[in-house]
Amino acid sequence: MTKTSILPDPQTFSQAVNRLHRSSLRPASLGMTEPGSVALSMGEPDIGTPGAVVQAAISALKSGRTRYTAQSGLPELRRALAETYSERSGRIIQPEQVVITHGGSAGLAASVFAMVSPGDRVLIPEPTYSLYADQLAMAGADGIWISNHADGRLNLESLEREAPTARMIILCNPGNPTGRVYAADEMLALAAILEKNPHLLLLADEAYADIVYDGLPFLSSLCLHSIADQVIYSNTFSKSYAMTGWRVGFVVASPERAEAINLVHRSINGSLNTFVQDAALIALQTPEKDLAALTESYRERRDAVVDVLSRIPGVSLLKPQGAFYAFPKIATKLNSVQMAERFAANGVIVRAGSEYGPSGEGHVRISFATDMESLNEGMKRFAETVQAIA
Ligand SMILES: Cc1ncc(COP(=O)(O)O)c(C=O)c1O
Repeated sequence: MTKTSILPDPQTFSQAVNRLHRSSLRPASLGMTEPGSVALSMGEPDIGTPGAVVQAAISALKSGRTRYTAQSGLPELRRALAETYSERSGRIIQPEQVVITHGGSAGLAASVFAMVSPGDRVLIPEPTYSLYADQLAMAGADGIWISNHADGRLNLESLEREAPTARMIILCNPGNPTGRVYAADEMLALAAILEKNPHLLLLADEAYADIVYDGLPFLSSLCLHSIADQVIYSNTFSKSYAMTGWRVGFVVASPERAEAINLVHRSINGSLNTFVQDAALIALQTPEKDLAALTESYRERRDAVVDVLSRIPGVSLLKPQGAFYAFPKIATKLNSVQMAERFAANGVIVRAGSEYGPSGEGHVRISFATDMESLNEGMKRFAETVQAIA
């Protein structure tokens, strides 16, 4: 997996592209796997989209739902999301606070471009999802990595120190790539930092909020009522409902910020596919028990991965508490890109930990959202490779 093949060239490309080219650590091709290899690299549920959701899209298409919709999203979907998240957050969220976006990715990008100006400092607790740094580079902002403590907790001291001169914090919770679920006391301490710094925004990416294990309490940023106006909440249908290819996400923010985010989003994306939004409305009605059953099946796979990793000498791991990734550290002289290459050469594809921030060096990311048979084979090859490189 290599970076993009274009070369930085200020004569040919925009400054945004040149900045992105210089700083991006994201691989150019995310889906290519050699025949015979086991891919534990993709952040994508292995199951298909629920039948009722597929059926809803087919019916919508057949009934001619193929024209433009409102640019901020289908009013019924905004209303349904406002109701769902009012209930989950214990505060009233109005439909005009919800913007329907082209997947979580476009919601994050629109939020960054609506709220962050060139030169702004943005704090990124890491290891974390690699897209944030790329979007900040495009916006010309100054992304500041704030390394989490070794036990996975937020480095609240550093965040507090940097807060007065920062514009935004971008938090991924539950964490990709770590599977870390930040504890209530960390979230409350973060809220206290934002309260003390009213100019500071929290862009909270909770793409994996529905995938939390072992009955662990999950405190959503939307429940931090004292900083409600400073929170920009991003989520997606991709992971919860196995809808990665449908491209539908949403942002919740104060009415004024939501309008600004929508202005950016519609200027790039226009309105979202009408029949996809019809189907998303049905996805939202997925019974709780079905979501719980899916989480339980990821939990079984997490346990299988943790079991293998805990037996390999030289491997250490913080047990994933949510999402569907494990982020082991491996004692070897190789860096994480070289490690990923060695794993790939032995037929198991994982992602280099350095993609996710400086403290990801020495780690690799394993996605366990794949079937048990492939996972077992992949983990067997993983264990063999670690023994060879340790
Ligand atoms: C933390 C996180 N946020 C956002 C996204 C992007 O979601 P989408 O596919 O809806 O653009 C991903 C996808 O991997 C993710 O892991």
